[in-house]
Amino acid sequence: MAVTIKSARELELMREAGRILEKVHDELGKAIKPGISTKDVDTLGEKIIRDFGCTPSFLDYHGYPASICVSVNDEVVHGIPNKNHILQDGDIVSLDAGVIYKGYHSDAARTHAVGRVSDAAAKLMEVTKQSFFEGIKYAKAGYHLFDISNAIDAYVRPFGYGIVRDLVGHGIGSSLHEDPQVPNFRQIRRGIRLRPGMTLAIEPMINMGRFEVEWLDDDWTVVTKDGSLSAHYENTVLITDGEPEILTFNGGLNDR
Ligand code: MF3
Ligand code: CO
Repeated sequence: MAVTIKSARELELMREAGRILEKVHDELGKAIKPGISTKDVDTLGEKIIRDFGCTPSFLDYHGYPASICVSVNDEVVHGIPNKNHILQDGDIVSLDAGVIYKGYHSDAARTHAVGRVSDAAAKLMEVTKQSFFEGIKYAKAGYHLFDISNAIDAYVRPFGYGIVRDLVGHGIGSSLHEDPQVPNFRQIRRGIRLRPGMTLAIEPMINMGRFEVEWLDDDWTVVTKDGSLSAHYENTVLITDGEPEILTFNGGLNDR
């Protein structure tokens, strides 16, 4: 499938899908506290998404059974919400969510501290988030796709963390997953040339230990092979001639 260039009308819909998803994450972030179950997080997230008139894009996607992926500690992504899984003080929890607004998708993830976490966990979360911002310095027309991948890799590597390779970012639009794939680790080639109107979900997944991951028997939950903590940070990004437009993040300006 070719990489799609969105029209002005499509971009208006994607911007709205993004604004809504940022608010969903803001609300979910406030709800993250010791004692809440991962199922409660999903139930709340689905309600917020539907109250905005949107559809949760993950629900039933290839059979995924929830609206929000809730991944705790060594769970990398695609954790399945469970009423018996209660968040504990000191956990880190990654929330990944997607909404569909008038046929257009947005996709974003945040990793939150539950109560007080170790300095090492806080640093992993901070580096993961910052790696996204390092990557999007190259998310501009004229650069190439893998300039983003290489920038993420170059920033993260000195910390000694493992950069997940088995899962990657992706194009997004009228489908959740479109071409191209967006790796977070170093590539030999430069990849396709970036053009205005491309929309990408850029989503580094970073492990405190080694990069290898494995799938649990539920066929969804991805965990680190060495049991180390993992963090995830994702936004839907629009390529322009100038600075990238981050459709699912505007620095908290939505709160006003
Ligand atoms: N944000 C995830 C991704 O980019 C989506 C979760 S997949 C689902 O691929 F199956 F859980 F929906
Ligand atoms: Co994604």
